[in-house]
Amino acid sequence: MTEPRTPLESEVPNIVGFLNKHLRASHDWSIAAEYPQVFNVNNRQNLRIIGEGENILAHAAIKYLLIKNILGIFKVAAIGSVVTDPAHRNQGLSHKIMESCLQSAEQEGADFAILWTDLYDFYRKMGFELAGTEHSIVIQTAPPAVDSGLKFLKSEKVSPDAILRLYSQHTCGTMRTVDDIRKFLSIPNSRVYTAWNPQNELMAYAVEGKGADLKGYVHEWGGGVASLLPLFAHIRRENAAPITIIAPLQAQNLIRHLKDWDVLSNEGFLGMIRPVNYDNLFFKIRRYARQMGMNDFVLEKTEKGFSIGRKDDLATLSSSTELTRLLFGPIAAEQLKPEFQKLFPIPMWVWGWDSV
Ligand SMILES: CC(C)(COP(=O)(O)OP(=O)(O)OC[C@H]1O[C@@H](n2cnc3c(N)ncnc32)[C@H](O)[C@@H]1OP(=O)(O)O)[C@@H](O)C(=O)NCCC(=O)NCCS
Repeated sequence: MTEPRTPLESEVPNIVGFLNKHLRASHDWSIAAEYPQVFNVNNRQNLRIIGEGENILAHAAIKYLLIKNILGIFKVAAIGSVVTDPAHRNQGLSHKIMESCLQSAEQEGADFAILWTDLYDFYRKMGFELAGTEHSIVIQTAPPAVDSGLKFLKSEKVSPDAILRLYSQHTCGTMRTVDDIRKFLSIPNSRVYTAWNPQNELMAYAVEGKGADLKGYVHEWGGGVASLLPLFAHIRRENAAPITIIAPLQAQNLIRHLKDWDVLSNEGFLGMIRPVNYDNLFFKIRRYARQMGMNDFVLEKTEKGFSIGRKDDLATLSSSTELTRLLFGPIAAEQLKPEFQKLFPIPMWVWGWDSV
């Protein structure tokens, strides 16, 4: 049995076949169509396999995301499609593959790694912790129709430039090109809804479903609140069942308006997060603290753990888990000194099209 390695170009179709067999057995599309930027030639260096002859025994993929927010640009290693062949499980293969992914993420200068899973304890042993905040708002009944003057369409044949224009207004999200959006629009089993004004300008968009995942979940949206609300109401009317809008913590205005309707609202986690390069990550946070006037703000790794606070008033966090929860939340405001409430949690969000 070999160590984790990058596959050859000729092995990529084999990987896709392996993943389709184990993760998409009951679907009639390929996982490669769901994650157009993960299983393509340009990302081959970021795939990891353990093989035996021609057979793939275990696999994981990294997709590097550049996430922009008010603090700057974060390089994030999103890890997904972690699978071991059932006949070779419990032999430590996934642990080895994950170690290799994290090592690569460190070398690539990623600030942190993120993944989406329900195997919390499995990944906790590798330093990941549930962190960040995700609001999900279930629109239970169709809101009353109001005349917004907008026309609604359900079609993925939308100009990627127009979507990108609205997407770019988000204060936190992955940096994307028109070509990225074009590829995302062709993900199978996904419904793209758009709202147009009488001048035929795109005012809002919302995407529900993504391949095998996120059915009934609107995981991507953009546009002004005044256009998004009638669009969401329209989607709920079209849908025979409740729909769930997923939103970042910072979308407070939208969330407040949605709560006027008959909704169920739930606060969950963004994902499982593990810092990778503390120096990179801390540098950005210290810089932001300075911009906010805290010139003596300290955040550094020490022998005992992590030192955080003002120069003459430092606290020590002994575990990286505590640190992850402080940096990304969720953390109750009253647990933080007032001066740190505007610093933490740092706004972080991964839109649905970018999840792996
Ligand atoms: C989850 C999954 C990837 C784990 O793969 P795996 O190769 O069996 O994982 P590992 O062998 O590294 O770890 C599994 C267990 O074996 C144990 N183990 C680790 N090294 C071992 C070794 N050398 N010998 C025996 N057992 C070992 C681990 O401690 C772990 O136990 P734990 O769950 O109590 O931590 C695999 O079950 C799978 O493919 N599941 C289906 C797809 C899936 O759910 N993927 C996760 C999506 S995020």
